[in-house]
Amino acid sequence: MIKVGLVGFGKAGQAVAQVLQEDPRYELCWIARRSAADPAKTAPSPDLPMVALASNEDWGQWLDAHPVDALVDFSSPESLHLYGEQLRRRGLMLVSAISAYSAVDLDYAHTLASHARVLCSPNITVGINFLIMAARLLRKIAPFADVEIVEQHFREKPEVSGTARKIAQTIAVNEDHITSLRLGGIVGHHEVIFGFPYQTVRLIHSAIERRAFGTGAAFALNELAQCENGFYTFDDLMMRMVKKELGVNHSS
Ligand SMILES: NC(=O)c1ccc[n+]([C@@H]2O[C@H](COP(=O)([O-])OP(=O)(O)OC[C@H]3O[C@@H](n4cnc5c(N)ncnc54)[C@H](OP(=O)(O)O)[C@@H]3O)[C@@H](O)[C@H]2O)c1
Repeated sequence: MIKVGLVGFGKAGQAVAQVLQEDPRYELCWIARRSAADPAKTAPSPDLPMVALASNEDWGQWLDAHPVDALVDFSSPESLHLYGEQLRRRGLMLVSAISAYSAVDLDYAHTLASHARVLCSPNITVGINFLIMAARLLRKIAPFADVEIVEQHFREKPEVSGTARKIAQTIAVNEDHITSLRLGGIVGHHEVIFGFPYQTVRLIHSAIERRAFGTGAAFALNELAQCENGFYTFDDLMMRMVKKELGVNHSS
């Protein structure tokens, strides 16, 4: 069983904690958040420690007393720099879902990867990553097809979905081809439409609830555990699995 420490217990972290606790492959050992002021009120179960760790030294002492095999990060970009050196020293696995890493943060994450297995993924659901992989493949097969991307989210979301932009970038489609609809309480809907002369292909992903982030983190942990030290994206892990299924050599 892989022992996990979860960093961040906000909207996403709470859902992820639920999934990790229910998954027999993992033991969720503790949760770190920025403020652990009232742990009794917020911990998902009374025997699950909740802690605030504000420095590298805090992290070192905590990990000495509460060792784990992996960290799953749903907090903020700054956390990486607080636990990074302890992760490096101990060779812990890292699944980081932080969407807003700067180039400097990502460079730092890459340096950790020489001593640890590090996954950084701004999109951590299995479904979206599968959609991106399928869209990339179809674009390769049919570069002549017209492509449009439609994203739908809750009324208050102001910006164009980062995931839609990532899809556009991956399949080399100009962002002008993204249509954004804002409607009620939609959690997240992405659709890539391929228009052929005599047929249409629609790739659709709909997020139902935040526990999908937990399923993605659990998938990533399981795959990462079978990898060597290095820096991985979610796409790398999925491709590794696909190649295994197809009997293709990993290095090819
Ligand atoms: N990759 C994906 O698909 C995906 C999906 C969802 C979310 N995310 C990312 O996950 C992160 C959290 O999102 P959210 O919606 O859950 O945000 P949120 O509700 O604001 O929660 C943030 C959590 O992180 C904790 N935190 C912040 N800085 C910390 C630090 N230095 N050390 C420890 N804990 C810290 C906060 O602690 P307090 O509770 O004490 O304030 C809080 O529990 C964001 O970066 C978001 O981009 C990614």
